[in-house]
Amino acid sequence: MNERLAINGGTPVRTQPFGQSHDFGDEDIAAVTEVIRSGNIGKGPQVAQFEREFAARHGVKHAISVTSGTAAMHVCIGAINPDPGDEIIVSPWTAGGSFIGALLHNCVPVFADIDDTFTLDPKDVEAKTTPRTRAIIAVHLFGNPCNMDALREIAHRHQLFLIEDCCQAHFAEYQGQTVGTLGDINGFSFGGKHLSAGMGGIVLTNDEGLWGRGVLFADAALPRANGPYEGLPYANYFLAPNYKINDLIAAVLLTQLKKVDGYIANKIRAAQQIIEGLADLEEITPQRVRQGDRHTYWVLGFTIDTNRLNCSAGEFAEAVSREGVPLGGPYIGSGKEGPLYRNPFLAEPDCYGRSRFPFDYEREKPIDYRLAECPYGEALMCRGVNLSMLPSFTDADIADIVQAIRKVAHHYR
Ligand SMILES: Cc1ncc(COP(=O)(O)O)c(C=O)c1O
Repeated sequence: MNERLAINGGTPVRTQPFGQSHDFGDEDIAAVTEVIRSGNIGKGPQVAQFEREFAARHGVKHAISVTSGTAAMHVCIGAINPDPGDEIIVSPWTAGGSFIGALLHNCVPVFADIDDTFTLDPKDVEAKTTPRTRAIIAVHLFGNPCNMDALREIAHRHQLFLIEDCCQAHFAEYQGQTVGTLGDINGFSFGGKHLSAGMGGIVLTNDEGLWGRGVLFADAALPRANGPYEGLPYANYFLAPNYKINDLIAAVLLTQLKKVDGYIANKIRAAQQIIEGLADLEEITPQRVRQGDRHTYWVLGFTIDTNRLNCSAGEFAEAVSREGVPLGGPYIGSGKEGPLYRNPFLAEPDCYGRSRFPFDYEREKPIDYRLAECPYGEALMCRGVNLSMLPSFTDADIADIVQAIRKVAHHYR
């Protein structure tokens, strides 16, 4: 089989658009309407109920709802309160939102390499640890859990905070334990992820001290009624942003929370069928999932063997997309644009005016991200292609996805 590709003027596998990423409907409209009719759309009972329900679903004591995943990760950093110039270890294959908060807190990212799970390689985390390291951010990329036992052991031994970035990984499980329950303090995004209100985020923690400071940090460090600092005189106690959400957002999150298990079950089923449908193609390898873990597939990621296929990952993705199946090329870019340490805000750098702050703070030589290297991840992720998973995928959709990828793979052999 070597059909003419759509990109070369052939007939595309598919011309129909795919379905929706979320099932927003009457329940959401009713919930929002009720909040508006109550006359109080600020932060109120819906936010409190959502925090209780989300924390209970995770078996965690405390939740702090915020405006985005970026805000959630910032609150994690604000809660641990590192000093300027402190180092935070993170993977460079993640959204900037994983550590924008750390940069705003004047910390510096130190990039550790990944392995074939597309998540932090504990060996390189260990190698990148210095006396200035304060925390590790474990990003469960695409919904695939990090090696949490190994990271926790390193964090414990070096007295570091372990922070989970669960933005893409709602209800994923590391060896039977739901992500967001394994780090000291952990962030989620609700901006288009499995559970979504188009925006929003949340922080989970069991640590009373981190919760107390986190609650203040998300709210301009103002003590409020029903909060951990109720009764303190009204004042801004330290420098902090305002990341509060309102009851309109929380009402949608509450109705969507009832649907999220269904979304995730469908994504996992679809991912497994697509992986099976491509299993005999030796040129295409799925992101490795550790045995005993539950990947929740916000994104289904593969790497292609560019020695066997006569194309780059970007060309492969473009050809599949032209078949009517939107496939992305390397995540966070490759070559000049990616991974994150090549992005201008770090590589130039462009953070605080014309200064090199915080990369030169109390350092003999400023950190130069143009020299950063994660060789295993660079060789792997420049061959990456990825598919955003929809809970609405039908068997017919899955068949088209498999057919489009197979058609392109056969062509480039
Ligand atoms: C891993 C990761 N961390 C953080 C963020 C930031 O979340 P938000 O876009 O809600 O600010 C994202 C967003 O895609 C993400 O994927």
